[in-house]
Amino acid sequence: MPTSDWTPDSWRRRPASQQPVYTDGEALARALEELAALPPLVSSWEIESLKRQLAEAQEGRAFLLQGGDCAETLADCTSSAIAAKLKILLQMSLVLVWGLRTRVVRVGRFAGQYAKPRSADFEEQGGARLPSYRGDLINRAGFTAVEREPDPQLLLRGYERSALTINFIRALIDGGFADLHHPEYWDLGFVDHSPRAAEYRRMVGGIGESLRFVETLAGRPVAGMNRIDFYTSHEGLHLLYEQAQTRRVPHRAGWYNLATHFPWIGMRTADPEGAHVEYFRGLANPIAVKVGPATTREALLRLLDRLHPEDEPGRLTLIHRFGAARIADGLPPLVDAVRATGKSVLWVCDPMHGNTLTTASGLKTRRFDHILEELERAFDLHAELGTRLGGVHFELTGEDVTECVGGARGLADDELDRAYRSTVDPRLNYEQALEMALAIARRGGGVPPARSST
Ligand code: PEP
Ligand code: CO
Repeated sequence: MPTSDWTPDSWRRRPASQQPVYTDGEALARALEELAALPPLVSSWEIESLKRQLAEAQEGRAFLLQGGDCAETLADCTSSAIAAKLKILLQMSLVLVWGLRTRVVRVGRFAGQYAKPRSADFEEQGGARLPSYRGDLINRAGFTAVEREPDPQLLLRGYERSALTINFIRALIDGGFADLHHPEYWDLGFVDHSPRAAEYRRMVGGIGESLRFVETLAGRPVAGMNRIDFYTSHEGLHLLYEQAQTRRVPHRAGWYNLATHFPWIGMRTADPEGAHVEYFRGLANPIAVKVGPATTREALLRLLDRLHPEDEPGRLTLIHRFGAARIADGLPPLVDAVRATGKSVLWVCDPMHGNTLTTASGLKTRRFDHILEELERAFDLHAELGTRLGGVHFELTGEDVTECVGGARGLADDELDRAYRSTVDPRLNYEQALEMALAIARRGGGVPPARSST
């Protein structure tokens, strides 16, 4: 990589947006020093293996499923919330493997998704003006001056919670939680009440039968059916935090961000001349950039130039998020721009962030139909343009929240209050997420349509 002029802190010479202002510089320096001395959360082997899998997805031999909370919170680092997230992602990936007949690369939006970009630096309530809440890595959600003050200790708390989360996920997976012989391990309490439960059960039953058939033929268990790979990702927003985790490793060239396998650059920080792009440029990790209505052809060309100079397989994922109404106009020029460079990227659709609405009562929500429509259009547009949609990026939870409207159960605006828990963006609940996976899988023809009850 032509990164001779790059260092983990060379971003400091560039304008850095979305960074908190700390009043106690010494406390910040101490926290960062401690962070830089702690062991990493992931290894370069895992990172390189993910990069290889993303390269396969780029070539059409795998499909990326990336999902999790908009913002993790320190309080939600509980065994039930983590297991529920893992369960829904496992269920969705099973549906996708079955339906699309391709391998699925599983990446959680977790174990580090604690920093959020905000459209305004300040928030006003009842005449008071305080710094905006920027995620649990930075300050606290309550509307008091003390809670909104950026606290350097939260950098350590976020890192520790990330470690606890990833540790639990690794333990579950190593212990056989993801074993395909036992998909019932992933059942969530309310699965049977879902209008789509029968469809899911039929598919799981079919997989179990196929597996037993192959094992009977072979006379032994199929190797690898009880183990899967699971990777982590988060928005690489807080540059001092990310820098503290950026290290060299023995026997490999380059610098790795070892706080996550797959960091991404958000829409608001994707300025090709800005600090975030400068920081990401020097990483050996696979990276993603969110692109959307604000991304010009020139900016995209510049991003490819800076972030993807060598056209390394698996290196760059473009996550587009236009909204159902804008994708048909917005996507083709970006696909054209990439094509003009002759480089390969992995195209992924985030059907969440371009479809956010506010209800009459002031709640942020998203309509299931809009999300599905953007996704359907993304598949079709890529097929028409001669590219391939290689993955999806969702905000979801394994819990029974009421944040997005619609879906098989027809959740209405006035029901959102029942279990609206997100501190930032509305997530698909368990049923809606599974339904979304079934809808994607149907495109692959692998999931039989629901039988009418005769
Ligand atoms: C997000 O992924 O939560 C987010 C803020 O998205 P975007 O950068 O696409 O707006
Ligand atoms: Co979000």
